[in-house]
Amino acid sequence: MQTGNPSTDTAKRLSLRKLNKSFGKVHVVKDLDLEVEPGEFLVLLGPSGCGKTTALRMIAGLETVDTGTIELGGNDITRVLPKYRDIAMVFQSYALYPHKTVAENIGFPLKVAGYKASEVDAAVRDTAAQVHMEDYLARFPRELSGGQRQRVALGRAMIRRPYAFLMDEPLSNLDAKLRGHMRAELKHMQHDLGTTTIYVTHDQIEAMTLAHRVAIMNEGVLQQLGTPREVYDEPATLFVAGFMGSPPMNFVHGSIASQRFESTGMALPVSGNGSSGKAVLGFRPEDSTVGSAGAGLFDATVFTSEQTGEYTLVTLSLADDTMTIKMPRDFEAEIHSTVSVDFPKDKGFFFDAVSGNRDALSLV
Ligand SMILES: Nc1ncnc2c1ncn2[C@@H]1O[C@H](COP(=O)(O)OP(=O)(O)O)[C@@H](O)[C@H]1O
Ligand SMILES: [Mg+2]
Repeated sequence: MQTGNPSTDTAKRLSLRKLNKSFGKVHVVKDLDLEVEPGEFLVLLGPSGCGKTTALRMIAGLETVDTGTIELGGNDITRVLPKYRDIAMVFQSYALYPHKTVAENIGFPLKVAGYKASEVDAAVRDTAAQVHMEDYLARFPRELSGGQRQRVALGRAMIRRPYAFLMDEPLSNLDAKLRGHMRAELKHMQHDLGTTTIYVTHDQIEAMTLAHRVAIMNEGVLQQLGTPREVYDEPATLFVAGFMGSPPMNFVHGSIASQRFESTGMALPVSGNGSSGKAVLGFRPEDSTVGSAGAGLFDATVFTSEQTGEYTLVTLSLADDTMTIKMPRDFEAEIHSTVSVDFPKDKGFFFDAVSGNRDALSLV
């Protein structure tokens, strides 16, 4: 029995090729291509209903695949039964057995696989120590906190040393403080175990903090795959730009004509080749500043200004667009006053308003 070593087969790579899934007429996962490297922590991020759970369940074998293939280490596992996939899933609800102790819950996968009691005991002790639950082996789930239940669920997934962990929003039932704490523990544990992990969440902060790479999905379509830095600094689509960051990127709707971006009360010179036609200018709250009218790139009206203690969030209106600028904590702005917005030219992003794709345009 393998109990001591993390997954050692480093040649294994999990590949999803053109995966498709529909429920009735609803096409939920569309041509999903994804390569997950051995040992990688990959986060599948997207809004509720975009197809994340469905994608994960297909990888686990809990949902059939309409078209496309799933390969593990070059072997086609698309139609292999879940129990033969060497993949363990951790569910949002933990799904612990209420009438079994912590030790029995953690050891269950080995027990049903027919291991001897002494082997199960040794592996339970080993695994419980890794999830810091060695002092709670005789307790029942109802006697545990949310974070402890989560650790038991993880331990039960870990005990067979699967090639990969699939986690579906495992922290979403915890309160904010515990969520932050468990997030750090998960990252630490995954680092030490080195087990390939695919983690589903709708929380962009979780994605940014946990992932080696983030795969961002919207309406069943993979929008961008990259490191947290890449997707944050170089968003490929309007959707990604608007999903990452809190507050997210600001958008001004306008059009491109004769090398200028034009919107209400502004005409900014641009260079490069993009769409001619409807365009969106994006810039991040933390890259921008508010100044006196006429002093920046364009003017806008103060809608409100909010102190968070740490900084001041200034919300501005410009025609139909609303934007938020992050200013130092002592900054004050009068509601209804006219101010200017400024940001470095290389912090302005352009998107095609119709396709939503990034345009190769920049402010000059
Ligand atoms: N078993 C099912 N039968 C019918 N529709 C489903 C089923 N599972 C999921 N769906 C639908 O598929 C879409 C994607 O769901 P899901 O994969 O759970 O999204 P996410 O996990 O990103 O919130 C949703 O519209 C959902 O209602
Ligand atoms: Mg889901």
